[in-house]
Amino acid sequence: MTENNRNHDTDPGAEGSDRVIGTPTSDSRVVSGSAEEQGDYEGAYSAAEAHPRPEEVQRKGERTAAVWFTLAFLGGVGFLVSYFLFPPDAEGDPAIADPLLGQWSNMLMGGTLTLSLFGIGAGMTVWARRIMPHYEVANDYDELPSSPEEKSSFRDFFMRGADESGFTRRPLMRRTLLLAMAPLGVAPIVLLRDAGPLPRETLKHTMWEQGMHMVVEGSDREGEDRWIHEDDIRTGGMISALPFVEPDPEHPHGLSLDAQAKTVILLIRLEESEFSDEMSREQRNWTHNGIVAYSKICTHVGCPAALYESGSHRILCPCHQSTFDAANGAKVVFGPANRALPMLPVTVDEEGYLVADGDFNEPVGPTFWDAQREN
Ligand code: FES
Repeated sequence: MTENNRNHDTDPGAEGSDRVIGTPTSDSRVVSGSAEEQGDYEGAYSAAEAHPRPEEVQRKGERTAAVWFTLAFLGGVGFLVSYFLFPPDAEGDPAIADPLLGQWSNMLMGGTLTLSLFGIGAGMTVWARRIMPHYEVANDYDELPSSPEEKSSFRDFFMRGADESGFTRRPLMRRTLLLAMAPLGVAPIVLLRDAGPLPRETLKHTMWEQGMHMVVEGSDREGEDRWIHEDDIRTGGMISALPFVEPDPEHPHGLSLDAQAKTVILLIRLEESEFSDEMSREQRNWTHNGIVAYSKICTHVGCPAALYESGSHRILCPCHQSTFDAANGAKVVFGPANRALPMLPVTVDEEGYLVADGDFNEPVGPTFWDAQREN
């Protein structure tokens, strides 16, 4: 405990002990029940300038403030209850994914939170207007900095304010105020529930895996007829492709829209000699007979980078003109993208159909993957 949070009363009393801010005094003289009781403060304003409320008014004010704080507490509890009442997940019953229930959930949470905050505000207003004394003072401006006497007088004045606020001697009001604030203190913590669960590694991977065949994006061919053969791509050509997945009742085309967005690739065929010497040996191993596969999702803000110019090997994203070099690991050669298009290792099965040789070498798409990168 430091010297600064002690109040050296002008008359320390028989014990002569220091008093800590916020604790009741053993000497009722400092309690602001009447002008006499506050008699010999030495602060910025003399006690003679204070107009304390009658004790009866203060008592009524305490009860009124307590009622507001209790309402605020109930509002805070109501907020927590209405938050947990409706599960966020659409498979729950009921769930806020339902528009009508979502509306109710919002109204209940907003209403109870408003009640809670309003209750605390109203209670504190009653406190200030019915319990604390008021002053009528006029001060001349003084030169800065304040003199040591003024600083000392401010400290005394602060201590008197702590006494006069009634915080220490109005236990009903104090306790109900603390009660009212407790649920609100917890509210931000429970709201963190919406931020979870953590995605962990799931965002870094797609469903591509070794041996998965490829199909032309948008094709309505059935079964293995859809698989792309290496001879289907001519040199200089480009095909937009997806992994082959057997259709199911929920996804007649095999893949959900979400899965399509993550897995869609550009298959491009170049002459072997056109690949840049800057490509690593690993990257070259991920190509097959000049066929290379890149994610079609632009690493800037996620548009499909669907334009290919075979003469320059440039892949162009039409949204903000990011341009990637297909002959050099899809490195960025122009535009706002900060990262090459992820590369998918590609090979063929024994019949010459193209298959993936694993997942992408980097996470697909834009956002925070770039955040920690220095270049
Ligand atoms: S999204 Fe591709 S350049 Fe902006």
